[in-house]
Amino acid sequence: MSALPRSTALAPAPAAPSMEAHWLPFTPNREFKQEPKLVARAEGMYYWTPDGRKVLDGSSGLFTCAAGHGRREIAEAVHRQLLELDYTPNFLRSHPKAFELANRLAAILPAGLDRVFFVNSGSEAVDTAMKLALAYHRAKKEGTRQLFISRERAYHGVNFGGIALSGIVNNRRAFAGVPGAVAHMRHTWLAENRFERGQPPRGAELAEDLARLVQLHGAENIAACVVEPVAGSTGVLVPPRGYLERLRAICDAHGILLVFDEVICGFGRTGAPFGAQSFGVTPDIVTMAKAITNGAVPMAAVAARREIHDTLMAAAPEGAIEFFHGYTWSAHPVACAAALAAQDIYRDERLFERAAALSPYFLDAMWSLRDAAVVSDIRGCGFLAGIEVAPDGAPGRRGHRWQKQLFDAGMHIKTTGDAGIIAPPLVAEKSHIDEMTEKLRAVLKAL
Ligand SMILES: Cc1ncc(COP(=O)(O)O)c(C=O)c1O
Repeated sequence: MSALPRSTALAPAPAAPSMEAHWLPFTPNREFKQEPKLVARAEGMYYWTPDGRKVLDGSSGLFTCAAGHGRREIAEAVHRQLLELDYTPNFLRSHPKAFELANRLAAILPAGLDRVFFVNSGSEAVDTAMKLALAYHRAKKEGTRQLFISRERAYHGVNFGGIALSGIVNNRRAFAGVPGAVAHMRHTWLAENRFERGQPPRGAELAEDLARLVQLHGAENIAACVVEPVAGSTGVLVPPRGYLERLRAICDAHGILLVFDEVICGFGRTGAPFGAQSFGVTPDIVTMAKAITNGAVPMAAVAARREIHDTLMAAAPEGAIEFFHGYTWSAHPVACAAALAAQDIYRDERLFERAAALSPYFLDAMWSLRDAAVVSDIRGCGFLAGIEVAPDGAPGRRGHRWQKQLFDAGMHIKTTGDAGIIAPPLVAEKSHIDEMTEKLRAVLKAL
């Protein structure tokens, strides 16, 4: 792996800026500004704080940096691109790398999902997928299909479509008036599956919730069923064996589109390029983001089955815009350059295969933490694990304390509520996994 060269001595720290103006997302701002957790640089598997402390990255940033940090290949591609073509609209114009990237993604997506629409974040990808589903049914003269089916504990980003789909109460409650008709299936966490590794054996029947919602609302009113193959942000819920297959069958029986939100699962996280391939179920639409550029530049995409694309093309009059949707930054040349460089690394270093091969070692290590008294459940597959700590009386308080103490002990992870989400960069060596496990164990024992 080649990373940017660094001088061994850190540059003298510039005077710290005032922290008043920056309002941080998804962060208790008042607490953060009392005890900031800052990072100043990153390389390979590590961050460094402004005062030079090394912090092992246990969550690939935010599931973004699959190839590790500071990748020279991506930095150079971005640099070159900025000098060659800094920006072009993609409305009525485009540039070669956008087409090249779409082709590259089509080549690793499940067969048949080979029409790719570029956006800039996972949230935009989800809203785009929803609009695509509505437009498709309308083009097929089935415009009554406007209801979406989602799931409790789902996370689909923060735009209005994604919030309507959301199954996490804190993400919804302040925005109770969100537009959009959505019915929710039950989540797939079952107490009897605690500590099951990989796909849990019990729970496929939860997919029958979709059939019940079809009975309740009428198939002719349902546009799509949207699920994360592995529900990530809620703390890693791996689909029970047979569950996704059953969703697929019910969707097929009723003309409902199946959308996989692969914003976390995509790009090797579950042991194959996409969760769809890991679990052997092909959806009609896939969303992806995060690791598409290795986190270096914001970008996301939606891939659709060719027939969805062709239906929209055929329904529009000759010369008309077929899908009235897009963003100023869609297929931004710099993002395309970063994504192509990231995809080259994934291919050349065989990172998806590498992570799949190392997955048993990683999962063994995570399951070895089961003996810590506060751990109430461990779930995971591929290079993704959720470790749940028992609440200490107030939900989420112990989890929050955990991630803070862990950062101070030299490791970064993402927590949601009382669940820690461990998702190492796919370049991790066994020694990094060992280091991660030791740090996790020490802090869990002290919690
Ligand atoms: C499954 C899923 N969908 C959508 C999103 C939203 O992505 P973004 O934060 O890039 O808008 C996320 C973010 O974690 C996600 O996990």
